[in-house]
Amino acid sequence: MTDTPKKDHVLIFDTTLRDGEQSPGATMTHAEKIEIADLLDEMGVDIIEAGFPIASEGDFNAVSEIARLSRNSVICGLARASFKDIDRCWDAVKHARQPRIHTFIGTSELHRAIPNLTMDEMAVRIHDTVTHARNLCDNVQWSPMDATRTEDDYLCRVVEIAIKAGATTINVPDTVGYTAPRESAYLIRMLLNRVPGADEIVFATHCHNDLGMATANALAAVEGGARQIECTINGLGERAGNTALEEVVMALKVRGDIMPYATGIDTTKIMNLSRRVASVSGFAVQFNKAIVGKNAFAHESGIHQDGMLKNAETFEIMRPTDVGLAETNIVMGKHSGRAALRSKLGDLGYELGDNQLKDVFVRFKELADRKKEIYDDDLIALMRTSDSEENDRIQLKHLRVVCGTDGPQEADMTLVIDRVEGHIVATGDGPVDASFNAIKALFDHSARLQLYQVHAVTEGTDAQATVSVRMEEDGRIVTGQSADTDTVVASARAYIHALNRLLVRRERIAKGTDVADVSYMDAS
Ligand code: KIV
Ligand code: ZN
Repeated sequence: MTDTPKKDHVLIFDTTLRDGEQSPGATMTHAEKIEIADLLDEMGVDIIEAGFPIASEGDFNAVSEIARLSRNSVICGLARASFKDIDRCWDAVKHARQPRIHTFIGTSELHRAIPNLTMDEMAVRIHDTVTHARNLCDNVQWSPMDATRTEDDYLCRVVEIAIKAGATTINVPDTVGYTAPRESAYLIRMLLNRVPGADEIVFATHCHNDLGMATANALAAVEGGARQIECTINGLGERAGNTALEEVVMALKVRGDIMPYATGIDTTKIMNLSRRVASVSGFAVQFNKAIVGKNAFAHESGIHQDGMLKNAETFEIMRPTDVGLAETNIVMGKHSGRAALRSKLGDLGYELGDNQLKDVFVRFKELADRKKEIYDDDLIALMRTSDSEENDRIQLKHLRVVCGTDGPQEADMTLVIDRVEGHIVATGDGPVDASFNAIKALFDHSARLQLYQVHAVTEGTDAQATVSVRMEEDGRIVTGQSADTDTVVASARAYIHALNRLLVRRERIAKGTDVADVSYMDAS
């Protein structure tokens, strides 16, 4: 389906860097946030919600730099309903060519009870804060958090106040993923019909996926009159996540016959962004995930393969190339040179500088020595773990494990910690447990392992394993990733990667540049 001028336009508001990053463990580094924002801008995202500037110095700096580097996208920052939050937000987004302040307060009965405001007191707070934001910035979005559980009459009342105070976009969040498609459409329609001035502004829909209905709810809201969809890449987000950008955009593209709404997204950039977000967030995409899952375009069963060969449309409603999947998976090997690697990585969306390429090439050759055929997924796994280890305080020097049917498994390990070597032999229930016990014995810490996940990157017994671990210390969560043809080595490296990130966070906390998480509820 091609876009025609007759189609209504739906704005795509991406909140991967704010609501997505808020997901425990999905914390991204400054450089990673800049890179993702750049890719979102290039893909045609209309509005990028770059962060929550009051939350920490790190968030503030990331939003400011994303604003400075922005090209076509509007850059938005989040602020609670307080002047201090809004001022801080403005200080970060004002550098953008097109800045936006997004301010919010919880309006349902449950949420009103948190700041202990009466309906009238909250109405005054909304009027004052939206007015303040509008005095700073021409582009102001206001959200009644938990809108889908707010009384209709009160919702209409506060939306009207926000519009009169100067809000240019009203976002209607389904904060807890409670609503159903019929209600989602009804709510927007009701606001458009009942609130004076509603046709002068844009209504947005912001859905969470707790009941698996986020995409359906967002599309239903569009049918009800919303013209901005808030979403994240891969549906990243707290709990069950947010509406997935790739799902709503492809649904509108493929089913333009019944949903005649256009977006400005270059869909061929979707796959690359999905891989980058999975990589930097540490949240792997499930194999059968719509649009971007590894199996989304695979036709394994014999019947399907036969049909596909005769006519691809038999079982395919969109082409893999529509979302940026290469049609061929050219195999690389140990004779492939640096230029071939650079070009292949470029096709996969990685543009490397000379030094970075040098580092990746060494690791590519090491892998090619152990694995005959290197597929696209192997290279992506290599890129996921290509961060320089030079500055890491903890480094793995040696690991040998003894495993088998008889007796405890043993890990013989040497770590270099702050340039000092330590050696130990530890036992455990299996080689991974023994290795983790060795790390813990050499570097004592109180962080708790919350998640340990292994994925085979390709088929075959020489496949690389990618390992993700998530650890928690004093409420702060860090993740670590690694890939290797040896699952135990990948596991140990992923654990060490997480510990190194934890040490960086501890240093930041000591310097006061990483503060305790700011509560969304406390707006004062
Ligand atoms: O889910 C939600 O209500 C939010 C708001 C802050 C917009 O993310
Ligand atoms: Zn949200």
